[in-house]
Amino acid sequence: MRPPSTPPEPLFSEGDIARRIAAMARDIAKVMPPDVMIVSLLKGGFVFTADLIRALHRCGMRPQVDFVALSSYGGGSASNGAPALHQDLREDISGRHVLLVDDILESGRTLSLAKKLVLARGAAETKIAVLLEKPGRREVEIAADFTGFVVPDRFVVGYGLDYANYYRELPFIGWIEV
Ligand code: IMP
Ligand code: MG
Repeated sequence: MRPPSTPPEPLFSEGDIARRIAAMARDIAKVMPPDVMIVSLLKGGFVFTADLIRALHRCGMRPQVDFVALSSYGGGSASNGAPALHQDLREDISGRHVLLVDDILESGRTLSLAKKLVLARGAAETKIAVLLEKPGRREVEIAADFTGFVVPDRFVVGYGLDYANYYRELPFIGWIEV
């Protein structure tokens, strides 16, 4: 599958994103301990995670980082919408204060599964940080504790978000017609 030939329509610039992440890090530092355990959701969350942990450093935090890979089979697929776990945690997170980090909260299925996973592994606390949130699309009851931007109900790409694994490298966030 090839990406659409028309380039993405910009929504948030590099500067917009950097300023918002700095503010999110300040909010996180107010309510989570300095030795927070970041659990980043692959693949989409990796760019946001990379910038967020450095913003947390500037707020005096010293996060540790682990990754999980989950896939959601939302909208139109034959599956019942339950995401699958492709890559498990490697760190022991029991008793830890965990911050789940993902690119976007849409139906909520992915983050809901991730939250269940970290709680089952004995996390003392789980909070959720997402760069983007699409309102009105939730299928399961879950809310982010820290949200970067609320986006219109469009297909957004860039800054880790993909279409057919393209566009993750874009330094800005834009939308495409799919
Ligand atoms: P949820 O499980 O429906 O909340 O979906 C979250 C996942 O779907 C995200 O981690 C993204 O990988 C993907 N996703 C949802 N909306 C978009 C979008 O507009 N662009 C790119 N990926 C998206
Ligand atoms: Mg994703």
